[in-house]
Amino acid sequence: MTDDTPDAGGPDPGNARPDGGTGARGADDVALDPWGSSTVSDYRKLFDQFGIERFEEVLEAVPDPHYLMRRGVIFGHREYREVARAMRNGEPFAALSGFMPTGDPHIGHKLVFDEIIWHQRQGGDAYGLIADLEAHSARGLSWAEIDEHTRNYVLSLLALGFDPEEGELYRQSTNREVQDLAFELGIEANFSELQAIYDFDGETDVSHMQSVVTQTADILYPQLDGPRPTVIPVGPDQDPHMRLTRDLAQRMRSFGVREAYASFELEDDEREVVDQSYDRLTEIADNTVTIRAIDAARLIEDGEEAVEFKNRDFPSDSHAFAVSARASAQKRAIAKLKNSSKEPLRPRVRIFDRRATDEAFEALIEAVEGEKRVYDNHVDTFDLSREAAEELAREVELDHGGYGFRLPSSIYHRFMTGLTGGKMSSSVPASHISLLDDPEEGYEKVKAATTGGRETAEKQRELGGEADECPVYELYAYLLAGEDDEFAKEVYEECVGGERLCGDCKEQAARLMEEFLEDHQEKRAEWEDRLEELDIELDSPRKR
Ligand code: TRP
Ligand code: SF4
Repeated sequence: MTDDTPDAGGPDPGNARPDGGTGARGADDVALDPWGSSTVSDYRKLFDQFGIERFEEVLEAVPDPHYLMRRGVIFGHREYREVARAMRNGEPFAALSGFMPTGDPHIGHKLVFDEIIWHQRQGGDAYGLIADLEAHSARGLSWAEIDEHTRNYVLSLLALGFDPEEGELYRQSTNREVQDLAFELGIEANFSELQAIYDFDGETDVSHMQSVVTQTADILYPQLDGPRPTVIPVGPDQDPHMRLTRDLAQRMRSFGVREAYASFELEDDEREVVDQSYDRLTEIADNTVTIRAIDAARLIEDGEEAVEFKNRDFPSDSHAFAVSARASAQKRAIAKLKNSSKEPLRPRVRIFDRRATDEAFEALIEAVEGEKRVYDNHVDTFDLSREAAEELAREVELDHGGYGFRLPSSIYHRFMTGLTGGKMSSSVPASHISLLDDPEEGYEKVKAATTGGRETAEKQRELGGEADECPVYELYAYLLAGEDDEFAKEVYEECVGGERLCGDCKEQAARLMEEFLEDHQEKRAEWEDRLEELDIELDSPRKR
């Protein structure tokens, strides 16, 4: 199995390498749509088109990773490294996710509940929110229905181990701070943008749009207590919200930080080209010459023979850059360099004014230590690292009444396959197990599930079962095996080795499911009596 087949992946027993194909195969392949009934059939697209990163790349940075991480159920992330770092260093971080109260919580939601709870136990500030405004506007549920479902989500989250004393539970409709923040963020987002991200059109109602900015406010809400790395555990269908929130968070910043070489600005890919060219020039020039923009342009364009230092002396192994791969970035970089032809190149960290007040900009200039050059809209610093400049910019912003948001991080889990094959859907009861299902009912649903088994026992013994295509195996890996990697692995190996037959396998899974539901519902009942202690309002005063 190679690294470039992340789409082919269900949970792997006891190791994070995605393998097999339990994700959501065969479902419609549609763009990410938070309100569609779509599942994701091609996980690779998420990496290639949307810039989600592979979770395996950060796994080793995570202290004592959750089993969903170890087994590759959590397959992708955005900037989770920041959260992992805070976790390792005992620094503040937060985890937040939200639930639309449109039906009963089921075993798919349990993944997210568990993720929030795990981050809480790792020392994070944890938040669970009920997206009641979204359910009301985007799904048209009445407040009475919403209240009923809200109670159920809250009870299951608590029963699974969320600590409400340490963490925070809220519903969107009663959180004034969230709504105020949503209003501010809404100033930065316009209709065309929502249209492009969500396919909104002239028929989209205003409250639905408002529920989108409300979600961006949810995501940034933990940072109202001060900027901190924040992870949002969600399914990949929520990624559009992450992209929007990360954009808006950035636009709210007073200052931006960029690396530069001269007066002109460089895009990231252009800078990569100029970085290499500059580094090479510093190697081949002695340090009495001034490296100018035109030298870098010539080096990129024609190779080292074309660079005209007065006293240059090239080593004989000199070679031109490979032109093909980054041709476009190179072309653009060359144009900019030529345009500034005689300007000396000198690496610097530029802090620019995005939306700072005059006082804040003055304070920033004042605060920069070491050599600096001040311009109308930016200050170039020569002795600060990028990180130091970012920290300074954030401090000044906070001192002058800004939010100083960090870009929120996210982690993405695979959708579970429905027990009847196809996708797991709240509207098809047999396809999922509700956390409120009678334990016997849960038992029966597992017994009736489709499997990755062969037509006959003989064939199964001969060829082995297809655990990677089996919703029952998924139940083991995502839920029933719990922390026990060995057990998950055993089921997998016995299955594919032909030692395990589906009848017994399902019987075992069904019993475990029954036990899980019994236990879960007992804990729910215990919390039922303690709901009054919570801060969250369970009865909405709203009409209809
Ligand atoms: N839109 C999410 C859903 O459809 C619910 C939600 C609202 C949410 N606010 C959030 C999820 C913040 C994560 C973070 O279920
Ligand atoms: Fe699925 Fe179990 Fe049958 Fe294997 S033996 S295909 S895991 S039900």
